[in-house]
Amino acid sequence: MNLKEHLGDHILSPTILALAEAVKGISQAVKTADMGKVGTMNSSGEEQIAIDVQADEILRKMAEACDQVGLLASEEMEGEDKVGEGEYAICHDPLDGSSLFDVNLSVGTIVGIYKTNSFIGVKGDDQVGAFVAVYGPRTTIFFTLRDGVNEFTLIDSEFVMTKENIKVAEEGKMFAPGNLRACSERKDYLKLVNYWCENQYRLRYSGGMVPDINHILIKGMGVFAYPGYGDQPNGKLRLLYECAPMALLMEEAGGSASDGQNRVLEIVVKDLHQRTPIFVGSKMEVQRCKDFLA
Ligand code: F6P
Ligand code: MG
Repeated sequence: MNLKEHLGDHILSPTILALAEAVKGISQAVKTADMGKVGTMNSSGEEQIAIDVQADEILRKMAEACDQVGLLASEEMEGEDKVGEGEYAICHDPLDGSSLFDVNLSVGTIVGIYKTNSFIGVKGDDQVGAFVAVYGPRTTIFFTLRDGVNEFTLIDSEFVMTKENIKVAEEGKMFAPGNLRACSERKDYLKLVNYWCENQYRLRYSGGMVPDINHILIKGMGVFAYPGYGDQPNGKLRLLYECAPMALLMEEAGGSASDGQNRVLEIVVKDLHQRTPIFVGSKMEVQRCKDFLA
């Protein structure tokens, strides 16, 4: 089944189809983009490479052209912009994992979809949908419109369903331990990592949140962690652009996502670039993180 057939007359079909078209453009750009830094910084002070800027532009054009979209925010932008009269709002990390780009590892795009005229004050639970693209040896997308998660693969310029109703098991011995540097100060995290090692969990960590969480969804088990420490107690990952969409996808697949205490989807966005620690994946594995880090 192709994407259009699957969406049928769903109200958000035009937005998802427009995002899928943007992904085709980014996928092409990923194959040919310049590897160098462009000398500009994003709003969090991180150096941009050409593909960050290109992917952001492709998604902006998509948002401007799509009648359903009225508001846009991006990890690469400072604020939120009115881009039309539509009632939906999209926020995105246009190219997650861009530090992996020059070494030819998988990167991705993460999108949250809301019905709002400002992202300030929303929480992840308000999302009407979440959408992710993975640019690996194959380009895939997975998304939810709060009716489960399905994966589609780009084959001959068409997205074809390759995995239906993705489900994540209650537990599973697979770990993706982000920000291991935190172990230098946080003995609780070190103990958790030791638990995973001593209990023969399988390590699956690429350094990119998109491929790492995609791994959990496709294999159907495991946990991804990115705690904070020291002067970055909330870690690095952004609530609006990264964690909230991933949390919705994981919950829709039967898993969970926590900041160590609260459901990620219940955290209120007070700042567009707000960061949060995250533990996401199989329910019992997320609970174990909470227990160790309490
Ligand atoms: O967007 C941030 C990101 O690239 C994530 O994809 C990834 O999980 C994380 O950074 C890795 O961070 P670090 O390289 O600091 O461990
Ligand atoms: Mg990112």
